[in-house]
Amino acid sequence: MAKRKVYLDNSATTYTRPEVVEAMLPYYTNIYGNASSVHSFGQDAKNALTEARKKFAQLINAESSDEIIFTSCGTESDNMAIIGLLEATNGKHIITSQLEHHAVLHTCKYLETCGYKVDYIPVDSSGIIKLDVLKEKITDDTTIISIMHANNEIGVIEPIEEISKIIKELNSTRKNQIFFHTDAVQTAGKIKLDVQKLGIDLLSVSAHKFYGPKGVGALYVKQGTKISPILHGGHHENGLKPGTENIAGIVGMTKALELANNEIESENKKCSMLREKLKTGILNLIPKSIINTDFSNSVSSILNVSFESVEGESLLLMLDMQGIAVSTGSACASGSTEPSYVLKSIGLDPVTAQGTIRFSLGRQNTHEDIAYVLEVLPKIVEKVRQMSPVWNKR
Ligand SMILES: Cc1ncc(COP(=O)(O)O)c(C=O)c1O
Repeated sequence: MAKRKVYLDNSATTYTRPEVVEAMLPYYTNIYGNASSVHSFGQDAKNALTEARKKFAQLINAESSDEIIFTSCGTESDNMAIIGLLEATNGKHIITSQLEHHAVLHTCKYLETCGYKVDYIPVDSSGIIKLDVLKEKITDDTTIISIMHANNEIGVIEPIEEISKIIKELNSTRKNQIFFHTDAVQTAGKIKLDVQKLGIDLLSVSAHKFYGPKGVGALYVKQGTKISPILHGGHHENGLKPGTENIAGIVGMTKALELANNEIESENKKCSMLREKLKTGILNLIPKSIINTDFSNSVSSILNVSFESVEGESLLLMLDMQGIAVSTGSACASGSTEPSYVLKSIGLDPVTAQGTIRFSLGRQNTHEDIAYVLEVLPKIVEKVRQMSPVWNKR
């Protein structure tokens, strides 16, 4: 039995806050009507939906609640933004970055098979997109630029406002507008989202990353931005997301974002302190550790570290036996033996990339959790290294 249970995989998913569960419960038991039904049960559900949409719009500083489409996850929001926009505008060319989440990358790969042209912009050694390359790649056919707000593996924050300025300037003289999408799944609840200040047309979020329930997300679509549905059926969500609305989930997500927004400063302060303690401890106690997260420009929850001559998956399993949950990359790619494409894109060699762990902190973590990790981790790394032929030959 492990001495302690420590969850450091909050970028994969978070627990649902009890206040959120409480806010959701009535929509399972009492107010369970279908928001499309005409009777009072349906109208009660519809009122809750309307209120949640208004509140959600305020929380991200949207101009109108009509700009919010509730979806079932971040992946759906990303697909809807990119495919939906291309279809509605007869677009041809997409620009994205090399370190996007698979929800964007695989969507773009799929679109390539449908005949769309996609450019994947490289990043520098800290993971920031190369703006000069981005500018060079823009053509008259460019319809959408999709760049994530913060990366899920290394935590780097991309210069969204700067990219938006570049696009706005170009749009002022172009015939075909370029639309700007950002995947804000890793920043919602950690950075106060302001869609107007960011200057974006489309923004994706997912509730389970900020202590909301799983199975619900949102897509912000700026007024005047045309998108087509990617699912076909009823008229829900302005015809863009057919299917009976998940009222409990939507209410829960809105509550979770409200709570997170109110606590952003204090939570970031706490997370930064814990992350610093973890980083310093690792560097002091474990030789040949490489920090892949740029502390001057990242979400405070993520610490990505490589350990020379260590196999990340072995480390993960041994940490798990001691009650510590981490990941070797994004949750969606875990189990894959390929080194992380994100780490490759910042210039890590494949062997170092294989020896990498992502610690992602959350609101439940304490100093005692970090002390426990620092007690256990050096011994495990040493043990794994002792089994490594590469380490022993040094
Ligand atoms: C940056 C990013 N985008 C999209 C997603 C997909 O979100 P969901 O799991 O809600 O589909 C994730 C999930 O890890 C993510 O980190």
